[in-house]
Amino acid sequence: MSVHIGAEKGDIADVVLMPGDPLRARWAAETFLRAPRLVNEVRGMLGFTGEWKGNRVTIHGSGMGMPSLSIYANELIRDFGARTLIRIGSAGAMQEAVNIRDVVIAMTASTISTPSRGIMRELNFAPCADFGLLRAAVAAAEGKGMAPHVGGIYSSDVFYDERPDLTEQMTRHGVLAVEMEAAELYTVAARHGARALGVMTISDHLLTGEALPSGERERSFGDMVEIALEAAFG
Ligand code: ADE
Repeated sequence: MSVHIGAEKGDIADVVLMPGDPLRARWAAETFLRAPRLVNEVRGMLGFTGEWKGNRVTIHGSGMGMPSLSIYANELIRDFGARTLIRIGSAGAMQEAVNIRDVVIAMTASTISTPSRGIMRELNFAPCADFGLLRAAVAAAEGKGMAPHVGGIYSSDVFYDERPDLTEQMTRHGVLAVEMEAAELYTVAARHGARALGVMTISDHLLTGEALPSGERERSFGDMVEIALEAAFG
């Protein structure tokens, strides 16, 4: 057991998929894994371990935002030996060419601040994805007939952003989308020599105000689970 994960040593697989929402972790485990077993429910942050095509995999919620994700990523890596962590979640588009339902695979993630800022101090560390995972995820998405966007995203500390000027600058600099977790995931993984990737579906558009109807979210979430599983084991 660790401070926030009530699993036994050995309950967590090498590969962990991390949706923000713990109920999505349950849905993904029950939908895609053989013999999923609940391994954590401390504070309602559900984690399940099961098998996908003969491979052990854990699907564990991260919660929303970098401070929450940081707790789980640290404990999964340091206390349970996870080596591959893939975030699956939603993001808001910041480019006209990126549309609702599109998949964005994050090569890197800019931030104003992360929980790791205290270590980095004056260094503007550039958190980056594991290239092998990135390449495999792109191939998996293309194999499903999708044309994923691959590039930089922005990991924000706020959902209700009050800085339109900053959004404008990021759009100008080619940032594809905004979400709230990837930069810290990439940074924690780098610190511990683990592999990390973020695969996101566009749920809303900052430039047009469009949003994905809630009924459609499950379908796009399923695609991301499959892309992440194929990237991890393909
Ligand atoms: N996740 C999905 N849409 C988002 C947005 N607009 N801002 C931050 N995180 C998001």
